[in-house]
Amino acid sequence: MTTLPPKHASASATEMVQVVLPNDANPLGYILGGTVMHLIDIAGAIACHRHTRSLLVTAAVDGLQFLHPIKVGDLIILKARVTAVWSTSLEVEVEVFSEETLTGMRKMTSRAFLTFVATDREGKRLPVPGLILETPDDQQRAAEADVRRAERLKARRELEQRELEASR
Ligand SMILES: CC(C)(COP(=O)(O)OP(=O)(O)OC[C@H]1O[C@@H](n2cnc3c(N)ncnc32)[C@H](O)[C@@H]1OP(=O)(O)O)[C@@H](O)C(=O)NCCC(=O)NCCS
Repeated sequence: MTTLPPKHASASATEMVQVVLPNDANPLGYILGGTVMHLIDIAGAIACHRHTRSLLVTAAVDGLQFLHPIKVGDLIILKARVTAVWSTSLEVEVEVFSEETLTGMRKMTSRAFLTFVATDREGKRLPVPGLILETPDDQQRAAEADVRRAERLKARRELEQRELEASR
């Protein structure tokens, strides 16, 4: 398979908007954390699909916080942007906002970093296209992503070790 040419993050940046319906909510009338996680995964995956034009699996999700609840009737807005690519994996940042439909008041409610791995239908890893780092901001994001990746791979190794010990 031919690797696609490098792309700008803006070429795959994704924004998803939906209204929070009663079916998405807990008894307090706030969107379920699990629903937000699902939407984060989808928004992140769409940006990464647009970047790689391949199939993907989620390898890791980190840094997820819930700062404010989002209530039924509000809009939930998810903005996803690829921050860094490596050989067969890439990181995407997903920011989540609430917007009151009647006032337009917007609040950032969550942020997460997800790592996806590009694969074919047989599960073979595929090379991902490069990311063009045009601005100092792009370069800063990618440098920070490298630091997070090192932490993630360390956490993965620790979990693998634990799995090994549990299977003895
Ligand atoms: C994620 C997964 C593909 C990694 O498998 P693996 O055998 O460790 O893969 P490889 O060693 O070939 O690594 C592939 C890439 O993923 C990266 N990677 C693997 N685990 C990672 C993690 N936890 N965090 C960040 N990157 C990770 C590797 O560094 C490598 O990156 P690179 O090629 O860009 O340098 C595998 O563990 C898996 O299939 N997990 C389940 C995925 C899943 O079911 N997700 C939810 C539903 S989609």
